[in-house]
Amino acid sequence: MDESAPYLHGTAPAEQARLSLLNRLMNEGALRELSLRGGERIVDFGCGLGQLSRGMSRAAGRRLLGIERSAEQLAEAARQAAVAGEEDLMELRQGDVSAPPLREDEWGKFDVAHARFILEHVQDPLGVVRQMVRAVRPGGRIILQDDDHEVLRCFPEPPGFAALWSAYARTYDRLGCDPFVGRRLASLLHEAGAKPVRCTFIFFGGCAGEASFPGLIENMSGLLSGAREPIVEGGLLGAAEFVGALEALRIWALRPDAAFWYGIFWAEGVRP
Ligand SMILES: C[S@@+](CC[C@H](N)C(=O)[O-])C[C@H]1O[C@@H](n2cnc3c(N)ncnc32)[C@H](O)[C@@H]1O
Repeated sequence: MDESAPYLHGTAPAEQARLSLLNRLMNEGALRELSLRGGERIVDFGCGLGQLSRGMSRAAGRRLLGIERSAEQLAEAARQAAVAGEEDLMELRQGDVSAPPLREDEWGKFDVAHARFILEHVQDPLGVVRQMVRAVRPGGRIILQDDDHEVLRCFPEPPGFAALWSAYARTYDRLGCDPFVGRRLASLLHEAGAKPVRCTFIFFGGCAGEASFPGLIENMSGLLSGAREPIVEGGLLGAAEFVGALEALRIWALRPDAAFWYGIFWAEGVRP
């Protein structure tokens, strides 16, 4: 099977802005869980716009290698790094995570191989995790963070939202990818020859009274609007239901009792 599925979310400027917002909302928690001690040599598989990559590089105090397939994402990653005066924090290298462009002398040398929101976008996640295990030294860590779209719970439920969310999850199936890959992370590490040593969630939800709530809703709404074509043209949900559910989400988010629970699955393994 060809593991290079098209990237569901695309790389339009509006999507890059959403991904940047997501990074602002999530990276503090991710860096806390990563517990970098300093000095680690890190490779970030599917580094996207590189915001978390730069955060990891700062924490490690060492230049990081970011691998990303899309030229548009790489250009925006470089632009954001330059704006922050942080060009030196990472080397960006274009390539596919299923066949990472590592030099002969780099394989087996990294202390940490990290991937967030990548395994859900490839058709062969095990193949990618195998490459991550190969990339680290014996004793090195492999860190996987990904979605499992089934864990979302909103209450009260916005009308029509459950159908929209489930149609959204099915757009992953259509590309041959797994919308529920989160639950498989420890198993993938084991199958790839690493020893799973820790799993957890990074909480990614909130309620109306929290300062982060509007941003969380903006991210969710942007994610769903951006998937209009595969959802509606793909026949997974009618156009009227799509628009109605997004509007219901917008109105629901104004309720003082609006709340949703979601978590990013996290698993960490060690190469024997
Ligand atoms: C949701 S973004 C996550 C980016 C970053 N890891 C983060 O957490 O902000 C997924 C990224 O993976 C890239 N991507 C998708 N499939 C890929 C592949 N097979 N090889 C390399 N990059 C890929 C996309 O271009 C996109 O930038």
